[in-house]
Amino acid sequence: MKAVPPDYYRRLDEAERSHWYHRGMEELSLALLGPRLEQTGLALLDAGCGAGGFLRLAQRLPAFERLCGMDLSAEAIELARRHLPEAELHVGGLVGLPFADASFDVVTLNDVLQHVEEAEVEPSLRELRRVLRSGGALLVRTNGGLRERRVRSDWRLYSRAGLAAELTRGGFRVERITYANAAVSLLRAARRRTPTAPTVTSTGIPGRSGAVATAIGSHLLRAEARYLARPRARLPYGHTLFAVASPA
Ligand SMILES: C[S@@+](CC[C@H](N)C(=O)[O-])C[C@H]1O[C@@H](n2cnc3c(N)ncnc32)[C@H](O)[C@@H]1O
Repeated sequence: MKAVPPDYYRRLDEAERSHWYHRGMEELSLALLGPRLEQTGLALLDAGCGAGGFLRLAQRLPAFERLCGMDLSAEAIELARRHLPEAELHVGGLVGLPFADASFDVVTLNDVLQHVEEAEVEPSLRELRRVLRSGGALLVRTNGGLRERRVRSDWRLYSRAGLAAELTRGGFRVERITYANAAVSLLRAARRRTPTAPTVTSTGIPGRSGAVATAIGSHLLRAEARYLARPRARLPYGHTLFAVASPA
């Protein structure tokens, strides 16, 4: 990521640990991974793991035996290590991962793909496919919009069709792709607030919320997660896109 405020990863860590938005995104992720999590002994790679929020959730699930994370930022990995002393954590980019072919049953890419340099998107997805076992699942969570917006080489907003095409180019078969965060996004859009690229002065990380906003936001995202737990359910709108894909 090119330019972020100096306290970006500290704020990311705080939001990952405590914000209703992150809890809601976790519930949506579990809903979409669905029956895959009924197995045990699985290996997980959280690519672009930040301060380790998703790995901490995974640690509490019986499904996962091996937990790995990696991130471009040494500071993010340092924060993740404090919370996850037993996970395998690496500093580095998505291309050239330090793992053997077919090492993982599940790879997650949470809020990372939109930040990957344009020229590295396809090689990054091919690398994630390489480390995923046949029959394994890639879960992608990224920015969503009804129209695709390529704002900078390191920041874009995907449409549903654009994300599906990106995953197909990367060697994946898309099993499911849906917008999410619909109700909150509608409220934000009504106030002309849409996702924006991080800069040296703005992070895009959700700030502190009051009790009422927390209760409403949590309730809305939990309701979406319950709905999306149905195998064919999908939402037509939202500032978030989720995809589940498997190696083609
Ligand atoms: C918005 S944060 C999301 C962090 C975490 N996955 C989460 O959901 O809270 C984006 C993360 O992706 C990492 N990142 C961006 N580009 C990357 C790349 N090419 N390879 C690895 N990590 C990358 C950043 O350092 C940052 O930690």
